[in-house]
Amino acid sequence: MKSKIAGLGKYLPSITMTNDDLTKFMDTSDEWIQERTGIKERRYAIKHKETTSTLGAKAAEIAIERAGITKEDVDFIIFATLSPDYYFPGSGVLLQRELGICDTTIGALDIRNQCSGFIYGLSIADQFIKTGMYKNILLVGAEMHSMGLDYTTRGRNVTVIFGDGAGAAVIQPCEDEGKGVLTTHLHSDGRFAEELAMKNPGSHGGYHLEDATAYEFPDKDSPGDIFVTQGMLDNALLYPNMNGQLVFKNAVVRFMEVIQEAFQTAQLPLSELDMFIPHQANLRISQFVQKKIGLTDDQVYNNIQRYGNTTAASIPIALTEAWEEGKVKDGDLVCLAAFGSGFTWGSALIRW
Ligand code: ACO
Repeated sequence: MKSKIAGLGKYLPSITMTNDDLTKFMDTSDEWIQERTGIKERRYAIKHKETTSTLGAKAAEIAIERAGITKEDVDFIIFATLSPDYYFPGSGVLLQRELGICDTTIGALDIRNQCSGFIYGLSIADQFIKTGMYKNILLVGAEMHSMGLDYTTRGRNVTVIFGDGAGAAVIQPCEDEGKGVLTTHLHSDGRFAEELAMKNPGSHGGYHLEDATAYEFPDKDSPGDIFVTQGMLDNALLYPNMNGQLVFKNAVVRFMEVIQEAFQTAQLPLSELDMFIPHQANLRISQFVQKKIGLTDDQVYNNIQRYGNTTAASIPIALTEAWEEGKVKDGDLVCLAAFGSGFTWGSALIRW
């Protein structure tokens, strides 16, 4: 028994933030951003009205309808995000509530694998379908980065890259011989955990980290009072940080490895690939990988130019859009691959 993607949906919020718009807040330029990342604009959600789970619910409703099921048929939720509504509980239960299906009391699992979150989620869904545990799994990747970025020049290397959005898929058993999810591969290397991270607030409280001096240390009389400190606020330690060049170098190597692993496992030649949908990290990364594996522009789907990097949402948004445009068709061999914070990376090979 294999699994398949039976329905896809996406939701991009309404505010279009161009590169020029960002120059009002920080010292950057449209030229710099486009040259380094390929990004022209990104979408931002309406703050205090939309949240990560409401973006996810909008994408989910479309995916559910396209899968030909009702919300009540969903028997498990998997939600991937690095920008959740709350520190806890996870956004999966909030999505369930937003969809109005709490009476079903189905399980909701949150995935914290950043840019690889959708592929990790797909792999988990695939296993649950294969064992017969569930029949209609709702897998959502959604991000609302815009609420948590540093809009001063200090944060420009990270802030210009990210955008908001959501993508969703309904995963079902696949009856067609030879079709469906052929393989998934998941990897990580925790040695690089701090190279692309938002470390605060967290249980480490600043110990053993290079920026520990910025924290006030606790004593026996004040347990717990270091969760959020003035030092964190003053030193912008409540924002994501990224070692961009190290991420770039690792990303291109790991993308290549995990794509090759997928084709080797499936015992298929790379020449059979119809559509490669990379995590939309940075257009330069996708172009580097495309060139290395010798794919034409028609074989690679990129939309980072319009949406920026939407992390866990980027693959389901791109896959949905490619499918809507008729670029993913019945019988096509589709490869998904992602790399991101952790570092974590993964791939999935699907016969559509
Ligand atoms: N606008 C203008 N100047 C900037 C900006 C900006 N937005 N950001 C950084 N700079 C400046 C820096 O301050 C620096 O100036 P200096 O030389 O005077 O010190 C200069 O540009 C070069 O900075 P670097 O950080 O070295 O820039 P780099 O050339 O590495 O480009 C980038 C940065 C685009 C992030 C690049 O490292 C990259 O592509 N990395 C890949 C990582 C990535 O794409 N991550 C996406 C998210 S993670 C993921 O999804 C996997």
